[in-house]
Order: sequence, then structure tokens, then C-alpha cells
Amino acid sequence: MTTQEEQTRAGLRFPARFAWGAATSAYQIEGAVSEDGRGASIWDTFTKTPGRIVNGHHADVAIDHYHRYREDVAVMAELGLSAYRFSVSWPRIQPTGSGKVNQKGLDFYKRLTDELRGHGIDPWLTLYHWDLPQELEDKGGWPNRDVAYCFADYAATVHEALKDHVHTFSTVNEPWCAAFLGYASGEHAPGRREPQNAIRGAHHLNLAHGLAVQAMGARRVGGCVNLYAVTPATDSVEDLDAARRIDGLQNRFFLDALLLGRYPQDVLDDLPMEIDFIRPDDMKIINAPLDLLLVNYYSRFTVSGAPGGKKSAAAAPTDSGSPWVGSEHVSFVNAGRPMTAMGWEIDEDGLVEVLTRVARDYPRIPMVVSENGAAFDDVLNDGRVHDRERAAYFEAHLGACKTAIDAGVPLEGYFAWSLMDNFEWAWGYGKRFGLVRVDFETQERLLKDSALWYSEIIRQNRRHEPTDS
Ligand code: FCB
Repeated sequence: MTTQEEQTRAGLRFPARFAWGAATSAYQIEGAVSEDGRGASIWDTFTKTPGRIVNGHHADVAIDHYHRYREDVAVMAELGLSAYRFSVSWPRIQPTGSGKVNQKGLDFYKRLTDELRGHGIDPWLTLYHWDLPQELEDKGGWPNRDVAYCFADYAATVHEALKDHVHTFSTVNEPWCAAFLGYASGEHAPGRREPQNAIRGAHHLNLAHGLAVQAMGARRVGGCVNLYAVTPATDSVEDLDAARRIDGLQNRFFLDALLLGRYPQDVLDDLPMEIDFIRPDDMKIINAPLDLLLVNYYSRFTVSGAPGGKKSAAAAPTDSGSPWVGSEHVSFVNAGRPMTAMGWEIDEDGLVEVLTRVARDYPRIPMVVSENGAAFDDVLNDGRVHDRERAAYFEAHLGACKTAIDAGVPLEGYFAWSLMDNFEWAWGYGKRFGLVRVDFETQERLLKDSALWYSEIIRQNRRHEPTDS
């Protein structure tokens, strides 16, 4: 090891009990979509609709985690992970989204969590990572308020069955995506382009979160948001207004609701509709006390409100509308930073910014980075993937976590996205985010260089005996 490497690693020293994790989600990895009584989800329907997914890919088999979970947990153990964030497939537990419970579905997650615990890995359970049961979509989907109450029932069922297996529960992964990509731009399932219903959906996803927290009475429960650093392209009035709008819809709409129990008035004022769907107690329910906040972070937006601006390279891969309800005129500017294969600009300073911002502007709440990572065009070379760029991405963002901790942010863990290459939504299998390479034909798993790097960082941190916590 060179002196420089030693210094780098010394610089990445984290407090004791910091959770070292990786994340996945059910639809992206499990496959087995018709097995053991699982019902259909909106992603099953969406992926079978022509033109929705690059190359017509679907996740009927995905990376076959449903059958290979033991092998996958062994890989996690080899990496030295102390925590694993996964999601439960709602239609495996309730095939029609309400009522009858499918015991075989619960049994799968019992086996998975037993296996994890047997390897000393703490299971972090997410209740909803976008795979709404199709029958609930047929009843109107998230714009229908009843779905929030169905979600609370489902949450209580999962919690009751798994509370002895799981210590940390979280509710809805990235409600922004579920609402605005699902119901405004249509890039994600169910693929509707109904801006006003996207706002209703966003509110009902928040309500579902609050109702689920109440219904579970879990020992440790968190909400999960995807936050972006947002910068105006210039100091012009239009660009400053664009930044306020995008920050409002992306970040404050969810943070203010969950942590302050209100929606930002300026964001409501921007919306092209009457807000008649918030009932008197809703905000109190949404503001249910939380034990932690899960923050997913990938990039920074640089935005402009000037007329005629172009959309950035990070646009959707399929034909879709704008997710920015009421702020459709805003354009996303290429600020010239290096990009990942998704066209997302790499900016670790943005992570420091979002973490310190939450710590500053909201009541104190422990946080974890629950997703962070990068897709690159990996090359398999003599049985190795030398993905230096991905390791560099992780290193820079872990450095940002350390900076935030040193600035007083109560950050308690980091989950790399993703443990394994998987089905990347509208992009299909074309974008690889994994620490572990998956051959989508043979399902063979292979540790990339970034996995070896991450595992060494984890080993160093789990070995040292810090005095700083
Ligand atoms: C996040 C999603 C996750 C994955 C990453 C790249 O928005 O939560 O499932 O697709 O982006």
C-alpha cells in the first residue's frame, strides 16, 4: 500500500457503529414475478408496454435474486457489509394490494433476513420501492387517497411478520420519483402524464408514509427522500426563480412535509391547480415522529428559467413529458462537470450541501445516505472489471460524508447503490450501477475492483477503534 493510499484511508475514518451498507430494490433484482403467489405490479405491466423501456427489457427474471439470495448474502459477507438495504415487493405480500396476505411472500423475506442475520448483516427494510400492485393502479393508483390506507395495512402486516427479524424499517423510497416520474412525466410506471394527479399522488405518498409510521409503531422507522443540490445557472431573476422552484418541488415539498408538517407555500403557489385534497389532519399524520431520515443522493441540478433553454443530457431515455409540474419551463443546464453513464454530473460537494442543509434547516434527526453511486460502461477484462471511476465516485462521496460528520451532521451510515448490477427502470439492463458485476445471461456474480476497494475501506473502519464517538 502506498503512503498516499494510507493517507486516503486514514481520511476516510468513520465513527464506530457507522453502518456500512449497500442497497437494492425488489423489482430490480428479484425476478420470479409469477412465483409463490406473487401478484402483478405496475412495473410488470409497464415493462410489457411497447416503447416504455429501452430495448423492451423487463424484470421477469432480473438477476434471479429470489432464488439466489443465499449466494448474494454470501457476497455481502465477503465484502464485510454491516447492513443491507432491500425492499419488500408489495404484490408478493398482498397480490391484489389489499386484503388477503400471501404467507409465501412473507416467508421469502423471513428466509432472507435470517440469512443476513446469520452473517452478522443488519437488514434494513424498505416497504415501497415503486412496485405498486396493479389492482391498486386499476383503482386509480396513488392519486386515489384510498391507496394510502391500503399501504398502511400492508405496512402493519409486514411489520408484524418481520419485526423480530428487522430493526430498521423505512416507508416510501423517493416519493418524488414515484409521484412525478410515474404520473407527470410518465417515464416510470404507471406511465401516466397527468400533472395534477402527480401532485395528488405526491400528497398521498406522503400520507401513506405517515399512516404507515403510525400503523407499525416500529422500533426504528425512517422516511426516505432523494435530495439534489440545486444551483441557479446565473444570478438572473429567472434563474434564481428556477432554482427556488426546482428545490421546492424536489426537496422542500417532501422535507417540509415529513419533518415540519407543512408544505412550502411558495411551492403550492407555483402549482397550476386548486389544492383541495389536503384534509385537516393530513399534515399532522405526515409529520409522525421519525427516528431517522434516509437520504438518496446522486447529483446536482444547475437550472435556468430563461426562455428557450435546452434540456440537459440527463433527459429520460424514452418519450416522456416533464416531471416539473407548474415549472415545466425550467431547463437543466450542463455545468461542465464530469458525468456518469447516466449523464448525471458528479458533484460530491452537493452531498455535503444537502446533508448540512437538512441538519441546519430542520429539527435534528439522525441521517444515513441510503443510496449513492454511479453507472459506468464497465469493461470485463480477463475476468476483472477495473472500474476506477466508480471507486473514485464512492471515495469522493464518502469524503463528503466525512466532511458533513466533521461539521456536526448526525450521519450514521452509508449505503452504496447498488450491491449488484440490476434492472435500471426505463433504462433496462443497459446501465450498470453494481459493486458486483452480474452477467445477465448466466447470472454469474463477480466482484468489481470498486467492490474490493469498498470492502477494504469497510475493513479498515471496522477494525479501528475510534475515540471520536
Ligand atoms: C434511484 C432509485 C434506485 C436506482 C437509482 C439509480 O432513484 O431509488 O432504484 O434506480 O436511482
